[in-house]
Amino acid sequence: MAGELSPIDKAKFVAAKRAAQFVEDGMRVGLGTGSTAAWLVRCLGEMVRDEGLRIKGVPTSTRTAQLAREVGIEVISLDEAKWLDLTIDGADEFDGELNLIKGGGGALLQEKIVATASDQMVVIADIGKEVETLGAFPLPIEVIPFGWQTTQALVEETLISMDVLGRTSTLRMNGEVPFITDEGNYIMDLHLNRIGNPRQLSLVINQMPGVVENGLFIDICDAVIIGFGDGRFEVR
Ligand code: 5RP
Repeated sequence: MAGELSPIDKAKFVAAKRAAQFVEDGMRVGLGTGSTAAWLVRCLGEMVRDEGLRIKGVPTSTRTAQLAREVGIEVISLDEAKWLDLTIDGADEFDGELNLIKGGGGALLQEKIVATASDQMVVIADIGKEVETLGAFPLPIEVIPFGWQTTQALVEETLISMDVLGRTSTLRMNGEVPFITDEGNYIMDLHLNRIGNPRQLSLVINQMPGVVENGLFIDICDAVIIGFGDGRFEVR
């Protein structure tokens, strides 16, 4: 399945392959979104086909749902599953406390709901995602389209009053038009450079009207499997 891979894809693949070993027969599994999570879905599809693994997958985006069905994983909704044994997903950044920035693929809302409804969340990532302090990757915030510029101004003013570095935000675009999430919302990317207190920032951002959710995952992730370009992996 993996064939000849670039070092970055090899790193993503080995992390995904290792994480797939956590999945046991009969589990209800949250399936993340992004290029690393796609490797996981392919690995699980192979296990379903070749080893008779029986799982029910709850995808975190329409993209993942499509891929999961293509590779033969039974897909159910979160409400059908009610609770999940395990969610495996990628991340844009993770720090030493296993706090994350997610949402680079625009699926942070479903990803956070699904991960929170799981006994365990395992993140799979290449070593390039590890940071000392979160924030170099722009923090995605999902906002409702109504009055989004007013929401943007409110977010920026609040960050200034909190003395958070960076302070600029951009509306995520899909060519000439705003990027639309699976829930029909927009994504604002906050360019902060450094997030000194992610827990506080997450709480403050989520209090603002117009904000649906932000991409900081605090105390949600239980383990990170880090893949390296030479095929090694490490579990944190
Ligand atoms: C999607 C996400 C992804 O998990 C994150 O962007 C990492 O993606 P990739 O595995 O392609 O680097 O949060 O919303």
